[in-house]
Amino acid sequence: MDDVRDSRVAALFSLIGNTPMIKLRFEPEGVTLYCKCEFRNASGSVKDRLARHVLSDAKKRGLLKPDSNILECSSGNTGIALSMVGSVMGYKVTILMSASASEERRRLIRQLGAELILFDSAGKYQTGIEMSRQMAAEDPRYFLPRQFENPLNVQDHEFGTGEEIISQVDGPIDAFIHGFGTGGTLAGCGLAIRKRWPKAKIYAMEPAEQALLAGECPCCHMIEGVADGFIPELLRSAPLDDHIKVTSADAMTMTRRLHRDYGLLVGTSSGANIVASIQIAQQMGPRANVVTLLCDRAERYFSTPLFDRT
Ligand SMILES: Cc1ncc(COP(=O)(O)O)c(C=O)c1O
Repeated sequence: MDDVRDSRVAALFSLIGNTPMIKLRFEPEGVTLYCKCEFRNASGSVKDRLARHVLSDAKKRGLLKPDSNILECSSGNTGIALSMVGSVMGYKVTILMSASASEERRRLIRQLGAELILFDSAGKYQTGIEMSRQMAAEDPRYFLPRQFENPLNVQDHEFGTGEEIISQVDGPIDAFIHGFGTGGTLAGCGLAIRKRWPKAKIYAMEPAEQALLAGECPCCHMIEGVADGFIPELLRSAPLDDHIKVTSADAMTMTRRLHRDYGLLVGTSSGANIVASIQIAQQMGPRANVVTLLCDRAERYFSTPLFDRT
């Protein structure tokens, strides 16, 4: 049975990482960007990488037992990725999610075999994180990947995603731009790129309505997957040069443009990354190699304003 399980896990893992890099030309802006297609990961988002790395590591180190239950608080992509990878590896998975999370995310998590516990959205993320800690303190079978604090999150992007980016860009990288949820992707890719190309600029994209890095007041935004209302611990290791604000409206307009003009069915944070990257590419000039990520797939947002007819 172990062999059968292992072969299923290996097949799934072959669909995570090594994502394609495409060059997209934007007119009338007059810029070309390198865009890494993280939506091509198995469950449709960059978070599959975290799930594969953290759970493989936990298994190798004996932290996962046959009766372990993987427990994480997630607003979507991480929950879906952990449900997929954890279930295929043969473990129970429990996802804590805000009651405000979209129906399509809930259905995907349940479909992948995980248990879903919804919490009152008024307390935001912190409520779910505290719930997971309390549940783990009361029952040792729970294993917490701790995506917001786990250094493996940064490490996997530094030696995985970041190295892939370096090998996929012709010549030096001038700028890397990306949003942040846990900060793992931005910190890891930023560290790898800066190590290989010391002059590369690393920028954080953040919603204009909740520009925490700019020191502005938190409030509501519609760029799902980024900026959960606090500056995450892992972002401190990111070699950031600056931050760029993008409004939810601009992010949605660009995302719809990616759908219709480029056939790229991606989520709103991908559109936001492109808006910020166009700004930087225009400042740097036509020879600059500017890189960003297309983080996840559009079907996760069917019930959100992104799909309102315009
Ligand atoms: C939809 C989506 N998922 C995941 C991420 C990556 O988040 P993290 O900072 O947790 O690595 C982003 C970041 O922009 C995102 O937009």
